Amino acid sequence: MNKIVVSNLRKHFILPDRSRLDVVGDLSFQVEDGEFLSILGPSGCGKSTLLSILAGLESLSGGEILINERPVVPGEKGIRLGFVFQQPRLLNWRSVRENVRLPLEHGSLSRDEQLNVAQRYLELARLQGFENYFPLQISGGMQQRAAIARALAIEPEVLLMDEPFSSLDELTARKMRKELLRIWQETRKTIIFVTHDISEAVYLSNRLLVVTERPTRVYETLTIDVGYPRDYDDDRLFEMTKKVSRLFLQMEEEHDES
Ligand SMILES: Nc1ncnc2c1ncn2[C@@H]1O[C@H](COP(=O)(O)OP(=O)(O)OP(=O)(O)O)[C@@H](O)[C@H]1O
Ligand SMILES: [Mg+2]
Repeated sequence: MNKIVVSNLRKHFILPDRSRLDVVGDLSFQVEDGEFLSILGPSGCGKSTLLSILAGLESLSGGEILINERPVVPGEKGIRLGFVFQQPRLLNWRSVRENVRLPLEHGSLSRDEQLNVAQRYLELARLQGFENYFPLQISGGMQQRAAIARALAIEPEVLLMDEPFSSLDELTARKMRKELLRIWQETRKTIIFVTHDISEAVYLSNRLLVVTERPTRVYETLTIDVGYPRDYDDDRLFEMTKKVSRLFLQMEEEHDES
């Protein structure tokens, strides 16, 4: 079943000098239920804008997005979506536990139930023992894990992730990617993961969209036919990374020529 269908999406901004900036060109793609889809594109091409539109935080200028066959309308409550940003964006004056509980505060659960749910996801993110710490007392990688736990705590149907590991050192990022895949396999969420890191996208996803410079559109869709759990040193992933790197270069050459 297609969980998300994006058809001919367009987005432009009107800038302060009244000029128009076309950010999303004519973008179409589908995401199946339970899929891990990466969107890989150059810096500034409109990836964060796209995620904001999917989350209903930003309006679209044309086209349509369907989630569970219903159109996404900005500002309207649609399905439950989790959003993990590039930076953890935790509240420094609340403990790790209280940060993860935060999105549940205005829901229907009692305080005890909220704490139970928060605990479950803290454990899934391997943060047991750090519940009472404050964000500035834990490492960047742990903060990012807390942000993932917070996004999962609302039990979203779809998890949107915007370059969540790009500020981490490579070793920490590798551990985090592994954890993320484990969580994905345990929870079977549909994940859309935005990145400009080719090997990260290849390692993580079932399917990968390579998108162009602004105004962004899909340049190529690739399926990564390697089972999970995956090994970083798998030759098939390495070959795929090389293939995608070549595609990227080719895309840039075409862009420079046009
Ligand atoms: N609210 C806004 N008003 C005007 N322009 C905007 C707005 N939001 C984003 N833009 C512009 O849209 C373009 C795409 O931005 P976006 O943040 O979506 O790119 P990105 O692909 O996420 O980049 P990066 O990889 O650096 O995170 C940029 O040129 C940006 O300046
Ligand atoms: Mg961005």
